[in-house]
Amino acid sequence: MSENTFPDRARVDARDKVRGATRYAADTPLPRLAHAMTVPSPIVRGRLTAIETGAARDMPGVLAVLTWRDFAGVASAGYLLGGGRAFQSHQPMLSDRLVHRGEPVALVVAETLETATAAAALVRATCEAEPFAAALGETGEEVTPPQQSYNVGDAEAAWTAAATRVDAAYSHPAQFQNPMELIATVAEWRDGVLSIHEGSQNAGAVKFGLAAALGLDPAQVRVDSAHLGGAFGQKNSMQLQTVLVARAAMLLGRPVKLVMPRAQLFHTASFRPASRHRVRLGADAQGRMVAAVYEADMQNSRADTLRPTFSEITSRLYDIPNYRSAERLVRTDVQSPGYMRAPFEHPAAFAFESAVDELAHATGQDPLAFRLAHEATRDPVTGRPFSSRLLADCLRQGADRFGWARRTPQPGSMRDENGMLVGWGVASGAYKAAMSPAIARLRVRANGTTRLSVSGHEMGQGMRNAILATLMAHLSIDPARVDIRVGDTEAVPQHLTAGSWGTASAIPVVRQAALEVRQRLAELRGSRQMRGDLHQMLARLRRPHIEVEVRGHAPGQPDAVFGRLQNGLPAAGGPEYPDFVSFSFAAHFVEVRVEPTTRRIRVPRVVSTIDCGRVVSPRTADSQVRGAVVWGIGAALREAAEIDPRFGGVLNNDLAEYVVPVNADIGSIDVGFIDRPDLLLNQAGVKGLGEVAMVGVAAAIGNAIFHATGRRLRELPMRMEHMV
Ligand code: MOS
Repeated sequence: MSENTFPDRARVDARDKVRGATRYAADTPLPRLAHAMTVPSPIVRGRLTAIETGAARDMPGVLAVLTWRDFAGVASAGYLLGGGRAFQSHQPMLSDRLVHRGEPVALVVAETLETATAAAALVRATCEAEPFAAALGETGEEVTPPQQSYNVGDAEAAWTAAATRVDAAYSHPAQFQNPMELIATVAEWRDGVLSIHEGSQNAGAVKFGLAAALGLDPAQVRVDSAHLGGAFGQKNSMQLQTVLVARAAMLLGRPVKLVMPRAQLFHTASFRPASRHRVRLGADAQGRMVAAVYEADMQNSRADTLRPTFSEITSRLYDIPNYRSAERLVRTDVQSPGYMRAPFEHPAAFAFESAVDELAHATGQDPLAFRLAHEATRDPVTGRPFSSRLLADCLRQGADRFGWARRTPQPGSMRDENGMLVGWGVASGAYKAAMSPAIARLRVRANGTTRLSVSGHEMGQGMRNAILATLMAHLSIDPARVDIRVGDTEAVPQHLTAGSWGTASAIPVVRQAALEVRQRLAELRGSRQMRGDLHQMLARLRRPHIEVEVRGHAPGQPDAVFGRLQNGLPAAGGPEYPDFVSFSFAAHFVEVRVEPTTRRIRVPRVVSTIDCGRVVSPRTADSQVRGAVVWGIGAALREAAEIDPRFGGVLNNDLAEYVVPVNADIGSIDVGFIDRPDLLLNQAGVKGLGEVAMVGVAAAIGNAIFHATGRRLRELPMRMEHMV
């Protein structure tokens, strides 16, 4: 049977979603459910000297007001990237120490949400405040020495000797994911078992993190994360609220729910940190790019280290013989920043792909031809081959669809029928193709049902569609009666689903499980001819079911990596493998129209072409790319956290003022896929899509604005006032 024959016409969860039947964590119905609300710290940094809770406790319907004194014996679960399982090492409410604005100082639990919210407003915290720096560039920030990340050839010398040079600084603000589903935790403690319902990309980390924090046996903790309403990296580990809610449920002997309000999330959850970038590029007399020096600073918290890997993609986007990069951490008084969709790749591509455009212009070359002329045939960093690299195909196919050949090179030379300045820009993107260890358990029953349990999470991206399409490509089963279990620690061990490895990790084991079921059936049938679907054949063979379990991991990983998977620790491999390196690629073509007097910028048209290996579910893949392009437009033109340095907090902490695109901001988005399986990376041929589709969008917009106006904007978001 050929692969990919399942029609994939609709989202498997579409009907439930539009009927409101999909159950997110906060929808979990439990008898005697109590409601919690947090009280945010009134300062940024310092010590809690007193907390007045009497008025809140006296309010009718209040069950408890917990402060740090109720958390004796509770420990931090540790920072995810430091061997722990939480988004930061600082767990609020374990002591009187305060390290970032908005961290909870009390948790009010009441019979209703209204009571909890009203009572929380009556809690008074008195603090001793210390000086702080809550944003990049503020007095008190601590800049670490530069750490070199990539070094090929002699980039400084080659740049100094170059015939044409670009030296440009770019900046990127702090951004917040703002998934539609707020971070919600429902905890129930019953018969020595702690059951947690929380939308997470990492149910395993929540399980083992809670066990470590509360001193429980991990077997006592169950985490269900069946559906998420978006995550984008913000839900990739145990949240600071999880342990608070779990402890409250254990102390009260009642299930407790907390939905962190959006305004608080800007200070209690992870985010994309602010960054500054300096890119120096040099070309020789023939216009060939010979040197790149890329230096960057990225905001961090005081305690935890999120290492920027801006150059992981920019060092291999092109064949540049001399490349050097170094990064500095800038320590500030904020909650720990983390991964947000294309965490480093999106800002890096904005800086680097803008600079490449600047060099193409400075050397008098067409920016598309310039990129194609520097196509790499082997990885410039390791010398290894790419598992597959179809960036040039993306650029050529995208250019055709876009009509790039009709572009006139001179900035400001194109106008539309209404007198708007028209600009056409292009940029490339790449993102590592990584894989996590994953386990699939597949049971097909004679009664017509199928259950598939697999490591992975449904964040809204369509994981269940990709899984069902894979099963249906290999098995004649009833698609309406397939129960797909993801994000459930009671099904199989759950990995951190992030880094665009969800599909590349789950689909190979799902596919292998399907093939093994077929093999088993063939053995049972022997030479007998049988009609009907798999369920009917099992019934005729008098077998109640066939069950198989399959494990997989990234190429070159030892089997010991399953130990990490089984303990809720990150275990993905890539993008460097023993015999090759592996990346997904993207090319974005953007048309902007700039109103010549107000300089209002619109983006009527984008063409994005992607090399993500095999496209498993065309329906959800197309939607992934659209979402990424919309986000790229928002990141380029709208999105930024506005920090007040005196108050040390985010001023625009709601969706009214944290501006993201609306429908009226989005024009045509034409999505193309190369769709060639990468069989070196895995047997399913999948590389990964979720993040690469956003990488380069902002640069393509900036490059188009330059083409429209002759103005080069190097600060995100790019706004009309920057062009005055
Ligand atoms: Mo993604 S930002 O690695 O969840």
